[in-house]
Amino acid sequence: MNDAILVTGGAGFIGSNFVLDWIQQRGTPVINLDLLTYAGNAANLQTLEGDTRHIFVRGDICDAPLVKSLLEKYQPRALVHFAAESHVDRSLVSPDTFIQTNVFGTFTLLRQAHEYWNRLTGHEREQFRFLHVSTDEVYGTLDEHDPAFSETTAYAPNSPYAASKASSDHLVRAWHHTWGLPVLTTNCSNNYGPFQFPEKLIPLMILNALEGKPLPVYGDGLNVRDWLFVGDHCTAIREVLERGRPGETYNVGGSSERANIDVVTTICDLLDEMRPNAGIGPRRNLITYVTDRPGHDRRYAINATKITHELSWHPLERFESGIRRTVAWYLDHLDWVNNVRSGAYQQWIEHNYAERLGTER
Ligand code: NAD
Ligand code: DAU
Repeated sequence: MNDAILVTGGAGFIGSNFVLDWIQQRGTPVINLDLLTYAGNAANLQTLEGDTRHIFVRGDICDAPLVKSLLEKYQPRALVHFAAESHVDRSLVSPDTFIQTNVFGTFTLLRQAHEYWNRLTGHEREQFRFLHVSTDEVYGTLDEHDPAFSETTAYAPNSPYAASKASSDHLVRAWHHTWGLPVLTTNCSNNYGPFQFPEKLIPLMILNALEGKPLPVYGDGLNVRDWLFVGDHCTAIREVLERGRPGETYNVGGSSERANIDVVTTICDLLDEMRPNAGIGPRRNLITYVTDRPGHDRRYAINATKITHELSWHPLERFESGIRRTVAWYLDHLDWVNNVRSGAYQQWIEHNYAERLGTER
């Protein structure tokens, strides 16, 4: 075993931020297994081009022989599992891939990691970790005055996405309880920041508002989410991986509860300031209330006391500065946006990594 880590889903939003952060902060090799679905964008990792510490493998976490061969070949000291179908609205239309990737994919990784870990001995066996990145949506929904979700809150997932993630959390727990696999689970609130696919609330609103398009707010706009800057999430995962107690779960949140309508008006005002445009007028006028998401959870809130007390983690970015940074990032990366929108990003891998694809078996 060496000091490499195997990351799944490292070309997605949070995964790519994590890989970049890990190589900068820790400098040890990352094997990045990602299928490059519509949500995966290898160009997020363009700054690592030519860096031998980043080994990209296009493949499916459901492919047991591939996962097995990567574990055997690279002998990683940890597996950090981000890969998932992540968008609630898509899970309402086509839940199949959510069950396949989030449930069966996690099961496949657990089974292969377990076999790999069983073959390790001594310090290497003690050191190995399987970190499962999960969501606060497994806890269901809160009313205005309910206490925030803690690690002991009962699971009550409401969407196919949330149910698939809850299933995967239970599988992870079972592999620890039954066989002692040294797992860690993080349940995090809504992330925002660079490289988020523009189907999610914040990038969708930034780009629509920039272009003077309608801003579709679901229902009454008063659903509440707890927003965390993605860089703070990456730090939390690193801390849990390195110092968390095997078998434990850690809630991660931003202590930044905001109603959706307040997030959208903040984005409108920032864009009016940063990109004044007489033709569009005040961007708040673009807000359009639309039919609510079926089963829309009302409020999420995270009690992050455990990770704060045990690991001294707390978010560094405030929502007001983080959202300004995020709007500025999208304005500065319109080429990235255009690539995503045109679908060109899906050819990026063929152009840049063609010689490496399919060589891992
Ligand atoms: P994302 O949709 O941006 O990225 C998912 C990545 O997984 C993509 O690169 C995709 O290509 C890859 N992938 C999908 N199916 C795969 C498969 N079968 N095999 C290999 N790779 C596959 O997701 P994200 O927002 O970065 O979320 C990452 C993880 O964090 C997910 O597990 C999600 O549940 C969890 N999470 C997300 C948030 C959030 O606010 N975005 C909050 C808490 C937890
Ligand atoms: O809480 C963590 C979860 O946060 C993650 O597990 C998910 O992967 C991630 O997608 C996110 O889920 P949400 O459903 O909260 O995120 P989304 O960006 O889709 O929506 C945020 C809120 O904004 C939600 O209340 C629905 C609302 N919304 C969303 C969109 C896309 C709108 O009002 N209009 C929109 O167009």
